Amino acid sequence: MEVGIDGIEIWTGKLELDLPGTFASAKGEDPGKYTEGLGLYTSSLPDAYEDIVTMAANAAHRLLRRKNVQPADIGRIDVATESAFDNSKPVSTYVAGCLDQVFDGEFRHANKGERKFACVSGTQALDDAHNWIRARRNRARAALIIATDTALYARDDPGEATQGGGAVAMLVDEDPDLVSFGTPQGIGSVDETDFLKPNQQFPSVDGKRSMQVYLARMREALQDFARNGGNTHPENFTLVPFHTPFPGMVRKAAALGFRHCVRDTEVEEQLADEIGRQPRPEAFDQQETYFEAIKSYTEELRHTSTYQEWYERTVEPTLCISREVGNWYTGSVHVARAAGLQEALVANRNLAGTSLLVASYGSGAQAEIHAETVQPGWREEIRQLNIDEQLDSRYELSFEEYEAIHDVHNHDESTDMEPFTTPHGEFVFDGWGRMGEREYSYVE
Ligand code: COA
Repeated sequence: MEVGIDGIEIWTGKLELDLPGTFASAKGEDPGKYTEGLGLYTSSLPDAYEDIVTMAANAAHRLLRRKNVQPADIGRIDVATESAFDNSKPVSTYVAGCLDQVFDGEFRHANKGERKFACVSGTQALDDAHNWIRARRNRARAALIIATDTALYARDDPGEATQGGGAVAMLVDEDPDLVSFGTPQGIGSVDETDFLKPNQQFPSVDGKRSMQVYLARMREALQDFARNGGNTHPENFTLVPFHTPFPGMVRKAAALGFRHCVRDTEVEEQLADEIGRQPRPEAFDQQETYFEAIKSYTEELRHTSTYQEWYERTVEPTLCISREVGNWYTGSVHVARAAGLQEALVANRNLAGTSLLVASYGSGAQAEIHAETVQPGWREEIRQLNIDEQLDSRYELSFEEYEAIHDVHNHDESTDMEPFTTPHGEFVFDGWGRMGEREYSYVE
């Protein structure tokens, strides 16, 4: 039995902030920090009537309609988010409440929950659905998994440069159309204080440390994956989607991952004439000298055509949506998978039967690595995505408008403002109920 992702939909926030233009110039920064350093061009932000529930419900609505799935066909709804606004009532109940408004039938017998572990929780929710189906507790029903976030930072926090907002809805089922999940899994997980939200809306972030922790946990997950029977040879994979807080982070992770995976392979031997063999720790008396040597080897490796060709083929395509939307936290690695497949469709690559290596990460901190096999129906599935149209129709914010919309979404401010866009055929936030609950309606 194959289990995996049968369908996927992406829903972006309706607003767009030009980072090297509008944002950098208001901050007095060099645009190169965005275009070359972080690898980001625009971020997607939610309009005044959008939030994690509307974006999740809109992505899910489109997905279920397109796949012709009825409420009774869904046995599980899990929402992964790090932007939840309630410590008790899960976002999935709000999403189901929205969907109840537009479907005949109810999600009454679907098990609903919320998954939390920073950005890795979307992948964890997929894993839960995978296990639930393999345990045959699904009774022929599918799981609806949604990763949704408004990744906003406090004004003037360095993280403000990497903001974003959107949702990814995925249908996990037997005999999937898009990708099937492999069994071997690698985990790298340590108690870390790199990024957290201790009962506060905007994160406390040690940005530079979070980048180091990302790389360290990713290496451990890769080692664990190989120990558990995973094939880590880079030529084994047609795409390698990473968690992408910003593309510059993936550039660093990909080089380290490639170096690690080619060690003791014919690729290392083939590169030996050009850049030597990889430094080994046992050849060094001091750890620091070893680190220096491995750092300069990695730098040389990045400039070889062997590495660059691999990167251009397997990693670069996964970044094309991310650089236009910013960080979507839990959704980010799933955006990377979809972007890579969409680019492969445009390039007419034949991916059916090939493997993807999916590398997820969540601060706090945990990395997870697993492989997926692309299914014969992938082209049809990816062809249905309308993310490019959504991106093209976003409203472009001036800096003053950006400041205003940031306040609208700031729970500590009571700013109300007219939206910049007009909702059409979608769920919208409609105000507050008597117990402080958020209310939603469907706009035709
Ligand atoms: N031209 C080219 N590159 C430039 C540049 C210019 N004019 N100005 C800066 N850069 C490069 C920097 O060298 C740096 O690249 P490097 O890391 O390879 O050295 C990159 O652009 C970012 O610049 P930096 O000055 O480090 O940005 P920052 O101090 O604003 O911090 C983050 C960047 C990512 C740490 C910050 O945005 C953050 O905290 N983000 C949230 C946390 C996060 O996303 N963590 C990732 C792991 S989940």
